[in-house]
Amino acid sequence: MSVDRRAIESLLSFWALSGAETLYGETPVDRTAQAPVRPAAPRPAATATATVAPVRPMALMTPVMAASVPAQPNFVPVARAAAAEAGDLAALKEAIAAFEGCPLKAGARQAVFSRGPAAAPLMIIGEAPGADEDAQGAPFVGRAGQLLDRMLAAAGLSERAFITNTVFWRPPGNRTPTAAEQAVCAPFLERAIELVKPRALLLVGGASAKAMLKTTEGILALRGRWVDWRSSDGAMTIPALPTLHPAFLLRQPVAKRKSWEDMLVLAERLERAE
Ligand code: URA
Repeated sequence: MSVDRRAIESLLSFWALSGAETLYGETPVDRTAQAPVRPAAPRPAATATATVAPVRPMALMTPVMAASVPAQPNFVPVARAAAAEAGDLAALKEAIAAFEGCPLKAGARQAVFSRGPAAAPLMIIGEAPGADEDAQGAPFVGRAGQLLDRMLAAAGLSERAFITNTVFWRPPGNRTPTAAEQAVCAPFLERAIELVKPRALLLVGGASAKAMLKTTEGILALRGRWVDWRSSDGAMTIPALPTLHPAFLLRQPVAKRKSWEDMLVLAERLERAE
């Protein structure tokens, strides 16, 4: 059978654009079930091979599945050491790209670190890169990012924000990053904060606010209230403002008024701090 490579590529890209990222068989497989115990058949040692049940990569799991996976080797100290060695943002970007300890890396095209000036007075921390960010290698470049940019421009904050995320690889299907994925990326994020030295943090969306402020409170309760963010060693304290995620605003335009209030409060505080 001749295989038309272009037809296959076109079909795959159509599926990817439609959001189909995982291939399932027609018959469900219960991978948690024990393999039936068979009487051991004697095999010649030279040809014996171990049969390993296929394991779904952790990055491709839903958050509920991922949360139930036994702890991975702890890469947090490795991340901390790599982050501490980075003397500037360029080195930090390289250290993130080289880091193998975040399970999301397996399902992403590339690491997505930051955009915006290195000495920005404001650091914006989103949740995680999405499909556009994964393709372009920069945070907040899709529809949500364009809305964020328009809001920043209207508040006079364009070019004054260093923009990044709680994790540096796209979670598959744009699921929310797990606490473990955020924890292993946190040393890099803290190092970025240390290098940029922003006067304020804008925590965009519930997954960002919860991870940064170590709270379980929802974003609707948190938004619009200044809270002090503290680094893990207690050396840095920076005022942080949680706000609604622009992707939420695209779905719920009536909530834009609340976000606009947050932007004005933020702009006013930055102005006062100058
Ligand atoms: N949403 C986020 O939280 N971050 C991005 O970079 C893009 C979309």
